[in-house]
Amino acid sequence: MSMPIESLPADWYTDSGAYRTERERIFKRNWCFVCPEAELSKSGQYVTSEISGQSIVICRDQHGQLQGYLNVCRHRASPVCIKSAGNASHLVCPYHAWSYGLDGKLLNAPGFGRDFDRTKYSLFSIRVETWNSLVFACLDTACKGLNEWLGGIVRLTEHFPAVEDMQFHVRLANAFKANWKTYGDNSAEGYHLATIHPDLSQSLTPEIRITAHENGQYVGFEVVNREDGSPGYWIYKFPGLLMHFGKKSFNLECIRPLDVNQSQTERWFWFRPEVEDRERNEMVRFSNRIMQEDIEICIRVQENLQAGFYDRGMLSPEHELGTVFFQSCVRQALEDG
Ligand code: FES
Ligand SMILES: [Fe+2]
Repeated sequence: MSMPIESLPADWYTDSGAYRTERERIFKRNWCFVCPEAELSKSGQYVTSEISGQSIVICRDQHGQLQGYLNVCRHRASPVCIKSAGNASHLVCPYHAWSYGLDGKLLNAPGFGRDFDRTKYSLFSIRVETWNSLVFACLDTACKGLNEWLGGIVRLTEHFPAVEDMQFHVRLANAFKANWKTYGDNSAEGYHLATIHPDLSQSLTPEIRITAHENGQYVGFEVVNREDGSPGYWIYKFPGLLMHFGKKSFNLECIRPLDVNQSQTERWFWFRPEVEDRERNEMVRFSNRIMQEDIEICIRVQENLQAGFYDRGMLSPEHELGTVFFQSCVRQALEDG
C-alpha cells in the first residue's frame, strides 16, 4: 500500500489572498462551460454567464458564428446584457445606450459626435468553442484549445449517447457556504460513497474503477448500475467540471467559486427521448439528494477549516486518488505562477 499524502493546508480554503490567486491562476486560465449549444442555435441569440467573477456574453452573430465578449461596456463598465439570455440584432447597454453589433463593434455612442473614433471601442473578445453540442468559453489567450484541454475525455466518452441525440431537461443552481476546493476534494473521491451516500452506493455494483488521467487533469469513475447492469462514466475535470455519462442520460455540473467560503454548483440534465417524464424527474430528485448530502458535509468541513485548529490531514493514494491529483493540480497551478 502506498504512503498517505499530506492534504493542502487549511488556510488555502479560508484565506482571501489564496482565493484571489486561484481566480487569477486557475479559473481565468481554464475553459468554462457556458450553456447547451441549442440555446444559441439562431443568429441574435445570446446568453450571459460568468468566469471567475467576470461577466461574459456569448452570442450567435449574423454569419452564424459563435462570438464571446466580456460583458463590459467600453463606456463606463456597465454590463451590456443584463438578462441571462435573449435575442437581439444588436446589444444595447442599459446605462447610456451605447450599442454594439453582434460582431462586438461599437455602432453608436449617443452624443459623442461624428469625430469620435468608434473603431477603438469594440467589446473585448474572448474565446468560444464547442464540443458535443456544449459551449465553453475561456478568458486566457494562452490556454490550449478546447479539444486539447478536454484531452482523453473526448475519446473515452464517445460510446455514450451524444448530447445532440438527447433532450435537454432542466438546469438547476445551488449556492452553498464552502470553498470550491472543499467541494472539489469531495467530488474527486469515492471514499465517502458508502458513508455519505448509502442509497447511491446501494444502486451501484461495488467495483468502481477510479483512474486519474493526464497528471490528474481529469479523474474517471467507471460505475455499473446494480439494477440493470448499465455502465456509467463519471468525470471530474480540473478545476470544476463534472460530467456523468450514462446510456440514457447525461448531466453536467460546474463548480463556481463565488467567494473564499461561498460556491455555487450549476447542473444541467439531458435524457434520451425514450426516457419518460416520471423517470426523468425521479433521476433529477435522486441527483438533488446526492448533491445535498455532499453539500451538507462540505459545509461542516469548511466550518472546521475556518475554526483555525486543524491544519492538514492525510489522503490515501489508494482510496482518495482523485483528491490527491486534484490537490496536486491546485498546487501546481499556484506554484507555476
Ligand atoms: S456604461 Fe454603457 S453606455 Fe455608459
Ligand atoms: Fe459525494
